[in-house]
Amino acid sequence: MSITASASGLDAQALRAQFPILDREVRGGGRLIYLDSAATTQKPLAVLDAERDYYLTSNAAVHRGAHQLAEEATEAFEGSRARIAAFVGARADDLVFTRNATESLNLMAYAFSNATAKSRMGEILPEATRRFVLEPGDEIVVTQMEHHANLIPWQEVCSKTGAVLRWIPLTTEGRLDLDSLPSVITSRTRVVAFTQQSNLLGTINPVSPIVDAARAVGALVILDACQSVPHMPIDVASLGVDAIAWSGHKMLGPTGIGCLWATPETLDAMPPFITGGSMIETVTMEASTFAPPPKRFEAGVPMVAQAVGLAAACDFLAEVGMDRVADHEHRLTAHALDRLVSERGVRVVGPTDNVMRGSAVSFVVDGVHPHDVGQILDDRGIAVRVGHHCAWPGCRAMEVPATTRMSPYIYNDVDDIDAFVDALSDVRRVFGVG
Ligand code: ALA
Repeated sequence: MSITASASGLDAQALRAQFPILDREVRGGGRLIYLDSAATTQKPLAVLDAERDYYLTSNAAVHRGAHQLAEEATEAFEGSRARIAAFVGARADDLVFTRNATESLNLMAYAFSNATAKSRMGEILPEATRRFVLEPGDEIVVTQMEHHANLIPWQEVCSKTGAVLRWIPLTTEGRLDLDSLPSVITSRTRVVAFTQQSNLLGTINPVSPIVDAARAVGALVILDACQSVPHMPIDVASLGVDAIAWSGHKMLGPTGIGCLWATPETLDAMPPFITGGSMIETVTMEASTFAPPPKRFEAGVPMVAQAVGLAAACDFLAEVGMDRVADHEHRLTAHALDRLVSERGVRVVGPTDNVMRGSAVSFVVDGVHPHDVGQILDDRGIAVRVGHHCAWPGCRAMEVPATTRMSPYIYNDVDDIDAFVDALSDVRRVFGVG
């Protein structure tokens, strides 16, 4: 194998050769230490080459043309769907391409508001689709750690349907308060939508107890797997949920492509989200009928090159081995937590034990605004994210206005973590805090 060095572990140094951007210099000649992979990952040559080759040889609009390029492009697109689906143990027909996880989650949310609007207009919906019709007072459950992408769409559904939003609160450690499940998930609950791994806190949530509570009341379960599919082995069917959303660009793939996996029963029952070309069965001036999934949810000329690039990213990760990816990140997280908890004036925001915990580590430095921490790190070539991380309610629950977050991936090693923690001493020195 060319991209990993040993059977026992992942060799970040060897992998780096596949990511030319990591060779560039930043801020006056320093080496780039990229620790912002929870926001977006860098792309290996295999992904860049796959996209370029597609454009060089086969570019055409898929599912339309009667020419050779259109046929090849369609094969590349559908072949990519099959490889991406296989990466998470899914059937190709159950995988819908979207622009990103945000759009995947909106697609699910709009299924509810669209079905409800049609029903209220008197349309007779198929029995399975009635599952998506909400009555005033029905409840939608999220968690207090959700990314805005899995919160605001549900707030909007509530404001359009009269449903009520409820949430599972956080403990002071930044884990879900599962003791609240019996009071939060009730006989009125129709949807439970939650993240598998927090982008703000790094917390990995236990899926089964939440699925069990939702199933007990017949609620549909949606998982935001944006921060889990890139970081751990995932088999969609074994999670026991109805739908799973994730993005391509956080797992070495291109921007502009996301995924929605759902059970065939769920996809079959859902009304469309974006309408137009390609997603139809018949069209008259008065009305239209819609194609079966996944095409029903893929209106317009789709993102073919991005699908080809994401399939190459899945192949790359599969070759590295997702167990190795998870082990490597676990080791880096252990090292980062060890160092950060003993660092003067630094407080980790989120779990400090490395159990059910991912590699995104948020923290605050006493007396220094997170934006200033980010700037000092940037001056040293260290790229991190600062702010509320699109999880503003989670920040409030943790009683911080914002954090600095470091998030390593397969191309980082312990030296990167050490350089980052060492630079925090400079932060304190520059700002005269201890
Ligand atoms: N959702 C991405 C993050 O957490 C952008 O940074």
